[in-house]
Amino acid sequence: MWEHALVSVLITNIGELVTNAPHEAVSVTSPGPYAALAEGAIVLADGLVAWTGPATRAPAADTQLDAGGRAVLPGFVDSHAHLVFAGERGAEFAARMAGLPYSAGGIRSTVAATRAATEDQLRANLGRLAAEMLAQGTTTFECKSGYGLTVADEARSVALAAEITPEVTYLGAHVVPPEFAEDVAGYVDLVCGEMLAACAPHSRWVDVFCERGAFGADEARAVLRAGESAGLQARVHANQLGPGPGIQVAVEAEAASADHCTFLTDADVDALASSGGTVATLLPGVEFSTRQPYPDARRLLSAGVTVALASDCNPGSCFTSSMPLCIALAVREMHMTTEEALWAATAGGAHALRRTDVGHLGVGARADLIMLDAPSHAYLAYRPGVPQIAGVWRAGDRVA
Ligand code: NIG
Ligand code: FE
Repeated sequence: MWEHALVSVLITNIGELVTNAPHEAVSVTSPGPYAALAEGAIVLADGLVAWTGPATRAPAADTQLDAGGRAVLPGFVDSHAHLVFAGERGAEFAARMAGLPYSAGGIRSTVAATRAATEDQLRANLGRLAAEMLAQGTTTFECKSGYGLTVADEARSVALAAEITPEVTYLGAHVVPPEFAEDVAGYVDLVCGEMLAACAPHSRWVDVFCERGAFGADEARAVLRAGESAGLQARVHANQLGPGPGIQVAVEAEAASADHCTFLTDADVDALASSGGTVATLLPGVEFSTRQPYPDARRLLSAGVTVALASDCNPGSCFTSSMPLCIALAVREMHMTTEEALWAATAGGAHALRRTDVGHLGVGARADLIMLDAPSHAYLAYRPGVPQIAGVWRAGDRVA
């Protein structure tokens, strides 16, 4: 699946080359702070970035492509998505826009549709969404289970996700399914026991929706601890619908990411800032699609918290796969600078997935990049809603 070009490619005459890495370095081992170069060039070889620097100093390569002054950016890293599902909830969205609030209970209607779907139907829906993401510049994405909620349906979900991404998250603890409504402890035992055993071989991550109406702090801790003993690393849906213990649970568990972060106390912000690497992943498409207040990105950034942006693509709270839309919302509605938003959607996502090979275009990074039909990354927010992805490369191969 990750086959790469056997010839080297020089892309030159790049109006703005965003690398999140030093230029003309010999090797770069992880994403750095935001960094960009005007009138740059990049060489891709063996699926990796082989050189970046000023176009005037570019080395020779087997083939050459003139970017015509367009911008080149790292491929987007979407670290939060729920793509294994069937059915749709357009009427629920319309009702929200007419004044009803979002509630976690809607998840159960997608659970019913997902259980009723065949494996081929789920695979086709997943493939369509993954192709949609790639066409919009997302070259790495995470994918959660969480709409099966039986041992067999969760195992089927993570196995399908593993067919298309290594970043698979077991989310058996999404909500309590109706058949366990009177036995929540029994469901948590299943999630931590037989269901985990069936899902762990296909998963890298374990997640829990720690929220009123879903799982409390002690239940969330039990799920994360069980996941960890099965070799999975933690991530948490935290503080989406109201204040709560999710952030503290995530930091205690040394989770890679606490996602949503919409309702935070000062103690939550302090906990994230002093954590050993729990990223705050903001999902502004959710606030757009639920009419909730946006998370306070500036407060997190000022406190020194690492911030990622992701889509949360799912049929309920946010049915967009568009990272350009998330960047535009982060800039316009959350007061992030265009540089901060782009970094959060690339390097930030890589941190949230503990990946060092993506999210930047330093020498040695996987050659995942986007060519914009625009001279700078700022156009992603400056021209919202306009298709501007002129080309996408993954592991050195042009894929869109
Ligand atoms: O991240 N918060 C929990 N899960 C999803 C929503 C899923 C749904 O509504 O179907 C989220 O927003
Ligand atoms: Fe989510």
